[in-house]
Amino acid sequence: MKIRAAVLEEFGQPLEVQDVELRDPAAGEALVRLVACGVCHTDLYTASGVDPSGYAPTVLGHEGAGVVEAVGEGVTELAPGDHVVTLFSARCRECVHCLDDRTNLCLAIREQQNKGYLPDGTTRLHRGGEDMRHFMGTSTFAEYAVLSELSLAKIDPEASLDAACLFACGLSTGLGAAMNTAKVEPGTTCVVFGAGMVGLGAVAGCRLQGAERIIAVDLSDERLELARGQGATETMRGTDDVVERIVEETDGFGADYTFEATGNVKVMRQAAESARMAWGLCTVAGVAGKGETLDIVPRFLITGRRVAGSSFGGVKGRDEVPDLVRLYMEGKVDVDSFISHRIGLDDVNRAFELMEAQDGIRTVIEFD
Ligand SMILES: NC(=O)c1ccc[n+]([C@@H]2O[C@H](COP(=O)([O-])OP(=O)(O)OC[C@H]3O[C@@H](n4cnc5c(N)ncnc54)[C@H](O)[C@@H]3O)[C@@H](O)[C@H]2O)c1
Ligand SMILES: [Zn+2]
Ligand SMILES: [Zn+2]
Repeated sequence: MKIRAAVLEEFGQPLEVQDVELRDPAAGEALVRLVACGVCHTDLYTASGVDPSGYAPTVLGHEGAGVVEAVGEGVTELAPGDHVVTLFSARCRECVHCLDDRTNLCLAIREQQNKGYLPDGTTRLHRGGEDMRHFMGTSTFAEYAVLSELSLAKIDPEASLDAACLFACGLSTGLGAAMNTAKVEPGTTCVVFGAGMVGLGAVAGCRLQGAERIIAVDLSDERLELARGQGATETMRGTDDVVERIVEETDGFGADYTFEATGNVKVMRQAAESARMAWGLCTVAGVAGKGETLDIVPRFLITGRRVAGSSFGGVKGRDEVPDLVRLYMEGKVDVDSFISHRIGLDDVNRAFELMEAQDGIRTVIEFD
């Protein structure tokens, strides 16, 4: 079928919305009609050409939500009419990682996905007789997409899809960092560095876990205000001496849990140093630039602090995204306040401009 899609033709150039050919889903795949799709830093990161693993041409987009239109052979858990959230983090439930509770890093389709192919090593996207690769196994800046069934979470059909799409990436990453990776305990003190989509999700996750104090740190007063809306009990401006201020505010010890959601390695270090002596856990969610390293004085670790990384918040997408969406439906996570702009697919480059200007938390593309 012919679909409209936003194609990254060349790094550093605006995306071009155009007609491309999408073939029918093969075995184990589903055709999804997109209803909404968030625009995330990772899309911009790839479009800019900074990501060393990026490729072009491709259809960008990974924060999608929509409706299943058709399924390929052997698909048992999805049927036409189902509402789904797209997952760049697949789950097969069978590989050595999926069988282990400690991780969400499914191995099943990883290699092909990183190369831009669906699990069987081919592509459903074509243009002018040539193959075009998929992006993150999703390619959701498009009216329709074909994905592996391992990359789709079936959600409650009552959930609004333009809110649900935020669970495809940033929001689940933040919520999961607090709920799955750190497993924040009730009554504790948490510090969240960065109050973008991921950090605000982490603030909400700390609140849902019953944290007593949640200190949000950011450079923007507007974002610190949003953090209060998600449950932050205190806010601080991110400065060079923020670690000292946090230690001072926590009886000289530091916080039980700290979270980094900026992508800045200096802030990662601050987050590690703000964690409490003896048992403080620092969870790093931000993606640093190529070649950057995290500096930690080993004494901080020997005296009991730990540092953990978190991909997609440790969330096992197919099984756990539906539960996170339920939290939204029960009114426990205020998702609507994250959606700052709504645009059509033709204006996708505007979303990148807004992101670069740090105007709002999320722009959502709505398809009609
Ligand atoms: N681990 C994962 O699976 C995963 C998934 C999605 C995004 N990410 C990464 O998470 C990070 C955050 O993503 P986002 O969408 O929330 O980004 P964002 O740009 O919306 O938010 C980052 C926030 O950090 C703040 N900040 C910048 N410098 C700071 C400083 N020195 N001190 C305190 N705050 C500071 C900014 O003001 C901003 O509010 C990015 O690096 C992104 O690539 C990781
Ligand atoms: Zn993303
Ligand atoms: Zn797996």
